[in-house]
Amino acid sequence: MEYSKLSVKKENGTAIVKINNPQSLNALDSTILGELDALFTELENDCSVSAVILTGEGKAFVAGADITEMSGMNASQGKAFGEKGARVFRKIELLSKPVIAAVNGYALGGGCELAMCCDIRIASEKAKFGQPEVGLGITPGFSGTQRLPRLVGIGKAKELIYTADVIDAGEAYRIGLVNKVVEPQELMNTAIALAEKIAKKAPIAVKNSKEAINRGMQCGMDEAINIEASLFGLCFATEDQKEGMKAFMEKREAKFNNR
Ligand code: COA
Repeated sequence: MEYSKLSVKKENGTAIVKINNPQSLNALDSTILGELDALFTELENDCSVSAVILTGEGKAFVAGADITEMSGMNASQGKAFGEKGARVFRKIELLSKPVIAAVNGYALGGGCELAMCCDIRIASEKAKFGQPEVGLGITPGFSGTQRLPRLVGIGKAKELIYTADVIDAGEAYRIGLVNKVVEPQELMNTAIALAEKIAKKAPIAVKNSKEAINRGMQCGMDEAINIEASLFGLCFATEDQKEGMKAFMEKREAKFNNR
């Protein structure tokens, strides 16, 4: 499929997805949300892709949901827009492959929410994060009220959301919102190296680990332990488990085949 506001480059098993509408700082409008929806279905089904990196063109990662588009909405249109964004972000979160956000600049509102639905966030020193929605008379609408407290704790999430404060990359790292901060020119190389490092591991084991974490974080400990046990058990039905353990015992590097 052709995308008008996204660019996609696939290299060595990693798909680099760039949100590409820099004149409005990559603000998320219905078109971009629809394109992300279609693209992540495509990436799920593309066996040549083992990891995804999400980044933005220009000085922003994403400067939020499109305020111009939202300005004329009534309550039911607002709800539908929020539901659409939340559904697309959940699809990204549940992709069966790792998704890394390479946050190049502003990640505000929907941009911060987009980064948070990724598995791992690498930030440029130029990145800025925040949920400025209450300053516009709305709540965060693409699941920020849910993912921010899960990542940084309830107290800090409430402070950030109620004040609409924008924080720099260093502070985002300090509170656990991002995994790593790097110089701007190192951002993509760092994200690609991370994707390639993960790609060397057993893909089904990575996928099952992601599923165990995602599902387990949503339920009580006993149920979560059972979820892990099932996914752990399923790994033993794979060729990669045989190869991984055989390679260890033979003191050589494992060669995984995603089977
Ligand atoms: N929705 C729609 N358009 C947006 C946008 C958004 N979320 N964020 C930026 N833009 C547009 C601006 O309107 C401007 O368009 P114009 O050139 O037609 O006037 C263009 O992107 C560049 O933005 P500008 O504000 O001139 O850049 P800046 O460097 O001075 O400021 C920001 C950058 C990110 C601080 C500022 O754009 C901003 O505060 N954006 C809104 C952030 C926000 O509240 N997001 C949450 C939305 S729910």
